[in-house]
Amino acid sequence: MNKSKRPYKQYSLHRGDCLSFLKTLTSNSIDSIVTDPPGGLSFMGIDWDSDRGGRDRWIKWLTKRLTEAYRVLKPGGHLVMWTYPRTSHWTRMALDDSGLVFVHNLIHVFGTGKSHGKIVKSTDSPEFNGFSTTLKTSYEEWVLVRKPSEGTVERNLKKWKVGALNVDACAVEGAPGQPSRFPGTLVHDGSVEALQIFPDAPGQLARLRGDGAPMMNHVYGKMNHGTVAKPPRVDTDPSSARFFYCTKASRSDKNGGLPDGETNCHPTVKSIALMRWLCRLVTPPGGTVLDMFMGSGSTGVAAMLEGFRFLGCELSAEYYATAKKRITHAWASCMRLTRPSAFVTLKSSH
Ligand SMILES: C[S@@+](CC[C@H](N)C(=O)[O-])C[C@H]1O[C@@H](n2cnc3c(N)ncnc32)[C@H](O)[C@@H]1O
Repeated sequence: MNKSKRPYKQYSLHRGDCLSFLKTLTSNSIDSIVTDPPGGLSFMGIDWDSDRGGRDRWIKWLTKRLTEAYRVLKPGGHLVMWTYPRTSHWTRMALDDSGLVFVHNLIHVFGTGKSHGKIVKSTDSPEFNGFSTTLKTSYEEWVLVRKPSEGTVERNLKKWKVGALNVDACAVEGAPGQPSRFPGTLVHDGSVEALQIFPDAPGQLARLRGDGAPMMNHVYGKMNHGTVAKPPRVDTDPSSARFFYCTKASRSDKNGGLPDGETNCHPTVKSIALMRWLCRLVTPPGGTVLDMFMGSGSTGVAAMLEGFRFLGCELSAEYYATAKKRITHAWASCMRLTRPSAFVTLKSSH
């Protein structure tokens, strides 16, 4: 069998720089990429998060890897990438330079953020006491981009099985008796802080125009997207329920799958529920998810629980070892719950 075409097992993990790893993959072979790269912030002073000598150098570093990611993605394939607000424009530049096309910014709002700013306590200018140099971080952004499709979306889907988002599988559950909702670009953690952001006032087209009056297209003139408004919606929670709900990573998210007494020491573990939702959104059923900045393996755990194949790469030996344990455990628990034949059984290489 042609080596490049040889199927891999349900998951395949690699250690090293993802640039070398990506170069080993066949062009147009990956269905989706869901990844959480360094942010160039020197977060907690960690080496792998340094800015590599400044903005331009950092962007060049990431662009090199994203150019390879572009090559291995199937035409129409999506990539979702975490960014930090302060350097999200760097990440966006690298995504742009690699040829990937912007689709959405997905915003994850949470109440657990902290202010890292300095609170003024001054005897010289007591009128400024209590002022702060920053606000509390309340959200993170995930950028959703796409490799251009070949021809129409329909043609691309037929040939490559990618090119559109699986919105049905990611619909937000409605209140009892109510239809589920089309997923939006906002995700929240259900905390009091996040819920306060949502006003109780009506905010949906259906509710605002629920009088049956014709919709006038004052701004876009000839755009003809319907003439009669939908009936008003009955919501039990009109403010926030229409957004996907997802907390930040919990202790069980972080340590699940590790032997008793062992803890996940990765400083930026992502929530499994969020990673499952993102993988499901951008990956066709049974498809292959790639995370080239795998860390402790949250994307891989999510991919296993969703029945996808997974390819992961991580630079650090310590994080790689943790990822391997977590992903193996997730895979094994799926095997216990599911008919093994439902998965592709392939020779283990690890
Ligand atoms: C933000 S963390 C990912 C955390 C992960 N989402 C989790 O839940 O554990 C980014 C990871 O990228 C890794 N990394 C940095 N440079 C890399 C490179 N060139 N190739 C592969 N991995 C790299 C770091 O060691 C770090 O673990």
